[in-house]
Amino acid sequence: MIPTSILFICLGNICRSPLAEGVFRHQAELRGVSQHLTIASAATAGWHVGNPPDRRSVDIAERHGIDISGQICQRLQSADFHDFDLILAMDNANITEASALNLDKGSARLELFTRYGRTGTGEDEYPEIPDPYYGGPHGFETAYQMIKQASIGTLDRLFG
Ligand code: 4NP
Repeated sequence: MIPTSILFICLGNICRSPLAEGVFRHQAELRGVSQHLTIASAATAGWHVGNPPDRRSVDIAERHGIDISGQICQRLQSADFHDFDLILAMDNANITEASALNLDKGSARLELFTRYGRTGTGEDEYPEIPDPYYGGPHGFETAYQMIKQASIGTLDRLFG
């Protein structure tokens, strides 16, 4: 069965995962498959719940023709492990934190986004998408490019 509901997660749900939600949706639309998918994003930490994405993420998305300004930060819930088929994490710490939130053992598949999207260079080499929150503006362009490649790889895997 093709996983039809996908939740992107990161630490704060204001930088990387909102960008992943927007870029992945955009790529799915370009392929004409978005009607088959439910796409969302969430944080492993609750600090920014209710807030829009970080301005720098909104700007980088806009530069690439994607509007993510309407998204609202939400925290990952244990129910998400029942409600989503696939939960794709930006880094390995997200996977550790998310696993701890899977309180009643929902069956969602939890994986590193770049691994699922097969962006790695070797069998076991899958890069984490670095957290751009404390860095300079180039971090957001890097995150965008990595997210775009992992999105394309994920869609290739799901839809051929
Ligand atoms: P994100 O980035 O996980 O890509 O959304 C961060 C956002 C906020 C914080 C850290 C990382 N923070 O410490 O508030």
